[in-house]
Amino acid sequence: MSQLDITNVHGRQVWDSRGRPTIEVEIHLSNGAIGRAIAPAGASTGAGEALDLRDGGPAFGGYGVARALAGLQEEIVPALIGLPADQQALVDNTLETLDGTEQLSRLGGNALIATSLAVAHAAAAGREEPLWHYVSGGTPPLIPVPEIQIYGGGAHAAGAMDLQDFMVVPFGASSFREALEWVAEIYLAAGKIVSGRGASVGVADEGGYWPVFESNEKALDALLASIETAGFNPETQVGMSIDVAANQFYRNGSYVLKAEGRHLSPEEWYDQVAGWVRTYPIAMIEDPFTEYDHLSHQRFTAEFRNKAQIVGDDLLVTNQANVEAAAASNTCTALLCKPNQAGTLTRTKKAFDAAKAAGLGTIVSARSGESEDTTIAHLSVGWASGQFKVGSFTRSERMAKWNEMLRIEESLGAKARYAGGTVLGRI
Ligand code: PGA
Ligand code: ZN
Repeated sequence: MSQLDITNVHGRQVWDSRGRPTIEVEIHLSNGAIGRAIAPAGASTGAGEALDLRDGGPAFGGYGVARALAGLQEEIVPALIGLPADQQALVDNTLETLDGTEQLSRLGGNALIATSLAVAHAAAAGREEPLWHYVSGGTPPLIPVPEIQIYGGGAHAAGAMDLQDFMVVPFGASSFREALEWVAEIYLAAGKIVSGRGASVGVADEGGYWPVFESNEKALDALLASIETAGFNPETQVGMSIDVAANQFYRNGSYVLKAEGRHLSPEEWYDQVAGWVRTYPIAMIEDPFTEYDHLSHQRFTAEFRNKAQIVGDDLLVTNQANVEAAAASNTCTALLCKPNQAGTLTRTKKAFDAAKAAGLGTIVSARSGESEDTTIAHLSVGWASGQFKVGSFTRSERMAKWNEMLRIEESLGAKARYAGGTVLGRI
């Protein structure tokens, strides 16, 4: 028996940031090392994502994980006992084969991703190295530029605003630590602007302000004003970023803007979004069209690729084949990389590597349903993704990741390199 063989796998029900059940997996190794990970959950999902296994029925709004935990106990535990934890590809291949479905729906993407990430944690602990170093495979670490939500909308705020995330990207900072200090000032300014304009109604799913403006432009204006009021230059220091999550308001061939009471044809919507990218200092824009409209994505990428990074989330669902197809047909310029969309760490890395190989940007990302788990901070550094999206600048499930990044940056000392504007094609 080797030092890093899996001796025990334990699944438990824990609770996520929306108060819904989720799965935590704990892995024990023969040398006594332990690794743990918690599955996150999305609300605005793409069609091809790995599928969580939920109980349905009346309890917990149908979000129960008893069936997923039972599958874990009956099938995953016996399959993993005795496997070497430091052979992630073997472990993940075992999990994927055991499940047997393309979208991992039989045992559940939630059970599989928690298991897969917990195995990596255990192996890193067993080797007494930080997770970021363990997953790096020798790649020099890179501290990413954060993408931080100031206002939430879309599916995360009962559709109060059509666009889902209004974010800032402090690419001009000199370190992660400084980047967060800048965002703290912008967040303060944004709060004053929202309440000053009488638009404050609460807090959205990822912790950002949940404002009600009468149009999406008014929200973009307020976001820009927040950056400028806090004293930053939106062209050279802190850019704007929006996640349109257009799937969410595309209905029967048109884009239905609830906030403004308008129905737009795909051509009208294209002109609307194009107008925003021309008018505002938008450094990044995610899922501007429904995931099925590849032609609009292609046209948009051709027109704006030098102005803004065009990010595929629902468009790509962290899937290697989708990334390769998108790179070949130029439907975006960056991958939003969410481990639970892929279902295992190995599948996540394959999508990530495909993006890097094609010269696409890479943003390691959280989900709207999160926990104290900080695995993604380590993946971002170890894989040198250069960019990192976690949600807002409040609430502990978000701050846990920002704070973990501060610890990693500090631990690297003089070797810490902040990705800065180069990842966005600036500077
Ligand atoms: P989700 O939202 O986790 O609800 O999918 C995050 C995003 O769309 O980027
Ligand atoms: Zn998204």
